[in-house]
Formats: sequence, C-alpha cells, structure tokens
Amino acid sequence: MSTAPTHQHAFFDDYSEGAHPDILRRLSETNLNQEIGYGEDRLSARAADLLRNAMAQPNADIHFVTGGTQANLIALAAILKPYESVIAAASGHIAVHEAGAIEATGHRINQVESEDGKVTPQRVQAVVDAHTDEHMVKPRAVYISNVTELGTVYRAAELDALSAVCKANGLLLYLDGARLGSALTSPVGDLDLPGIARRVDLFYIGGTKNGALLGEALVIANPRLREGFRYHVKQRGALLAKGRVVGAQFATLFEDDLFFRLARHANTQAQRLAEGIQARGFGLLAQPQSNLIFPIFPDAVIAGLRRRFAFHTWARVGTDRSAVRLATSWATPAGRVDDFLNHLETLL
Ligand SMILES: Cc1ncc(COP(=O)(O)O)c(C=O)c1O
Repeated sequence: MSTAPTHQHAFFDDYSEGAHPDILRRLSETNLNQEIGYGEDRLSARAADLLRNAMAQPNADIHFVTGGTQANLIALAAILKPYESVIAAASGHIAVHEAGAIEATGHRINQVESEDGKVTPQRVQAVVDAHTDEHMVKPRAVYISNVTELGTVYRAAELDALSAVCKANGLLLYLDGARLGSALTSPVGDLDLPGIARRVDLFYIGGTKNGALLGEALVIANPRLREGFRYHVKQRGALLAKGRVVGAQFATLFEDDLFFRLARHANTQAQRLAEGIQARGFGLLAQPQSNLIFPIFPDAVIAGLRRRFAFHTWARVGTDRSAVRLATSWATPAGRVDDFLNHLETLL
C-alpha cells in the first residue's frame, strides 16, 4: 500500500500531475466517437495538420508514440545501419537514463564530454576523426536534447554549427524534444518550431512533460528518412490501436497555443525560483534557462528544505554541498514557489 506524501509540494519532475483539463475534456467529448485505429483517426489527422502548420513543414511525417525512450529508440534504430553509431553527450538521456535501450537495438553510443549538457561541433568532429575504418563502428547520427539534461537551451547559432558539422560528415541530427516546449519558450531561446524543423533531420515534440496525459509526436523532417517509418513504429510495438488517445491530446495542445502557454508557465515559475534562490546568496550548477534548475545548497539547507519539499539530489559539488534539481511544470502553482523561497529564507 502506498502512503500519502508528507511534503507540501514536490519539485521532482514535470510529469507529477495528470493532464491539463482541456485535454481531459477533449478525451471525454470524443470518447464515444468511433474512430479508425492505428493513428488513422480524425483526431490524429487534425493534430498532425496542426503540427505541420506550426512547424511550417507541409509534408513532414508525424508519428504519435507514448513515451520518450520509445521515441528515441524507434528514431535511432530506424536511421542507423547495423554497424552505425550515434554520438551523444555523456550526460545525455539515451546514455544514462534509458537502461541501454539504444544499445539494445544494436548500436553503440559514442559519448562525448559536455560541461553544460550540450554537444559541440568540435567534439562531434573528434569522434568522426577517431573512427577511420570498418574495424570500428561508423558514427552516423548525433543525438541532442533540447532542453538538455542540465536544463540548458540550444540557440539557433549552436544548432546551425551542429547541423553544419553533421552535413560535412554525412551525419544525421536527431533532437529529443521531451521538453521542447520549455526550450521554445525559454527566456534565452531564439528558436521557434519551424527553426527546429529546418535544422534537424528528425525530432520529437514532448507532450508527457508539458500537460499531456502521455505522448510524444515524432517528426520526420528529412524526406529521405520517411520511407517505411510506420513499419519501424509497428515493429517496436509502438503503433497504437488507440492512436486517437495521443492524437486528441496533441490536437488540443496545438489549438490556441496551449502547448506554448503551458511551457511558458513552467519556465516562469522556474525563473522565479532561480531568481529567489540567487537573491538569497546561492549559486546554480548551470544557467537557469528552462523549467529545470540546479541550485547548489549546503547539506544542512537541503535537509531543512526536505522537511517541506521534495526534489532530487543531482550531484555532489564539494564536501558539504550538493546541486539539487528543481523541476516546475505546467501545473506548478505560483504560491508553491513563494512557499519554497519563504521556507528557504527561514533556513539562512
Ligand atoms: C530528455 C528526455 N528524453 C527522454 C526521456 C524518456 O522519456 P520516458 O520516460 O517517457 O521514456 C526523458 C524522461 O525523463 C527525458 O527527460
């Protein structure tokens, strides 16, 4: 039997709440409609049209799947030949948090060091240069996530530089957009959805962490990668008979800009947290640019905060202090941020 949480509020992650009420309403209103299965329903068609329109890619191929690990492994396994590998930051989600899902599809991940969670062109080039012949795997793709694991956000010039190094070396660029909403509404961001779709070969738009019950939209922007993609989705067990469930959610998210409004709310609350924490004299592990922030607190302060709030410890950064991860969401009440900062004040 599970026990009720004893903390006042959790800043664990951005999927602790269920779904935005508009999404539940849409699911309820369309509940008794009969729809064709496997993503060929009217809701999925409507959602795909809205997405193509929002990304200014009238021919983009879109597949709705249920989760991020699933999207990543379908995408990467589909575009890699058996001997090809993918380059990713050592801190990248596929490298650390997916139980070897990518490796289980038969592909090595070439990991590169990264100080801020981002992959740089120089490090991509170094991996390419080190793989010279058929006695080694052949790097063929670059995996990035935006937002990164450290909550940082790629700027257009950075994606341009990555795209250029990929093109120069015959590499495909794949973007994991579990938190793409947060990246696109980041106060430091300068990319919009068309800008992402133009610069990468394939990517996904995360719903799970931005107000959906669950679901991600995998977008195949590069026409050369589209052939047979539904077979790849099906073979990985991801072609949903009730595709309508994810379709209805994305249709709702991309009508009236709900997707962007929800992401902006999460970012605003994270920025308020970051500013309040910095104003009280604490530093952060990485620049606060999204809905994930990483303040550094002494152990005693962490223990005090945990009396009322829940969050993950991220990394030890000295003998007596750690960076913690605070995640805000589309549903984080502004009052809970105030409570956190007021409580922090009492611990000084
Ligand atoms: C960047 C990123 N990619 C992928 C995933 C995996 O998503 P899921 O847990 O739905 O498989 C996550 C989940 O936390 C994530 O943060």
